[in-house]
Amino acid sequence: MFTVNYSRSLENFLKTIPFIDELQELPQEIEEFAGAIIGFSSAELIRDIINSFYRFFDQVNDQVFQILETISGINLENFVYLIRWDGHNDLERWKLVLPDGTPIKIKQTIHQIGISRDYVVLMDTAFITGIEQIINNPIPENKELEQLLRELLEKAPNPDSAIYIVRRQDLTRGQYLALGEEEVKVVAQQLTIPIEAAHFLMDYENPNGEMTLHIAHICAWNVAEWMHPYDVSPYQDCSFVSQRIHAMESSEMDISRLGRYVIDAEQGELVKSQLVSETPSTWGTGLYAFLDRLPSGKPPSRLDNIYWASLGLWEELMTEFGRELFEDYKYRAIPIDEVLELAKKGIPSSLFRVDTNKMVLEDSYQFPTGYIGSSPQFIPKQDSDGNSTDGYLICTVFTPENSEFWLFDGKKLSQGPVCQLSHPSLNFGFSLHTTWLPAIGHRQAKYNIPVSLDYQAVVNQQSDSMIRELFEKEIYPHF
Ligand SMILES: [Fe+2]
Repeated sequence: MFTVNYSRSLENFLKTIPFIDELQELPQEIEEFAGAIIGFSSAELIRDIINSFYRFFDQVNDQVFQILETISGINLENFVYLIRWDGHNDLERWKLVLPDGTPIKIKQTIHQIGISRDYVVLMDTAFITGIEQIINNPIPENKELEQLLRELLEKAPNPDSAIYIVRRQDLTRGQYLALGEEEVKVVAQQLTIPIEAAHFLMDYENPNGEMTLHIAHICAWNVAEWMHPYDVSPYQDCSFVSQRIHAMESSEMDISRLGRYVIDAEQGELVKSQLVSETPSTWGTGLYAFLDRLPSGKPPSRLDNIYWASLGLWEELMTEFGRELFEDYKYRAIPIDEVLELAKKGIPSSLFRVDTNKMVLEDSYQFPTGYIGSSPQFIPKQDSDGNSTDGYLICTVFTPENSEFWLFDGKKLSQGPVCQLSHPSLNFGFSLHTTWLPAIGHRQAKYNIPVSLDYQAVVNQQSDSMIRELFEKEIYPHF
């Protein structure tokens, strides 16, 4: 198993704050608003604090960071370790560096990694976490302060995707930190693909060192953002968003695109790019499903068909904050005013299949108005021939009344669900990723780190007795 351990330094973190110039241009209304409601003399105070931070971190050089690190004992470095685990022994790791020897810096997040026969791929994804998510709610009772902080601290995700390619051949023997071994470095090639993304898939085979990536570009959409009680509609009445959707994902501000990329992994160069987008299917496309295992138990060599689910476009989920954040989006396909109009009419949630050889949407289904289909999962038929459409798609469906599971024939999405499952006691929140197993059995692995051993030190620090109780009564006895 491959995974990663990465850290963004405080400096890197602070640099996600919009530039000082932008802060200087804060609209007068926000300052007045803050002055009137927060009780601060004006928002200028917060701005001054942030500017001071900025100036400080801009001036200090690497040496100062090293001194701070020594004094505090806290690691302030940017680092990315690729970790390999054989399922039994200690974790083995490599520090990833660029060809010039400098450590890789992750500017946003690593949301997913990809593996092919000869390469491991990491992506700096647009599932952005920044300082605003860490300190978004310093005074829980004060919603106005929270809103102001978001205005000040959040910027749009990077509109491009940085990927890092590691040769598996170079991963001969890494560092076993648990054994006190010396650090081992390995070089990763860097490549930038236009347009942001959170999820991507890779073909397992990479003939002649050419890998194929399948990427969902979540254009002008910060999926780590959510509907706050203080969010207002971008439409004329500027009303507050309805309470029933607080904490829900906000809508995208442009149509999503699906990309297929052939990359020369040795040179770190793009060989071929294909993009597809289509109304109504590719509005808010993020979650995928595919045949991930052949009847032989091996991964398919190529992903010929990939199923995707889209959120659609919802008037209720449009916010003024999102409109402003993505007004000048670099890769805009549909003008923002048109996006707002389309949302007013509503674009339904979709489930569709892309034939990756032709890069066309071959089959699609639109959910009824007011419904959202999410968490698509491919289930191969019992006597499956290994064909990538020979199976069922199950997904969660949120209807205006309840939550359900719908089952589709993988070859005939457009005909609608073959089965809809519901129950009076089946009621769950919005769902994202899923998995499927042909059978459930008892755990057989011997490797086990008890949850209490892993968490108790942190739980002990909690002043809220409810959190301690939750762990003691609901978690430890079961895991
Ligand atoms: Fe995800």
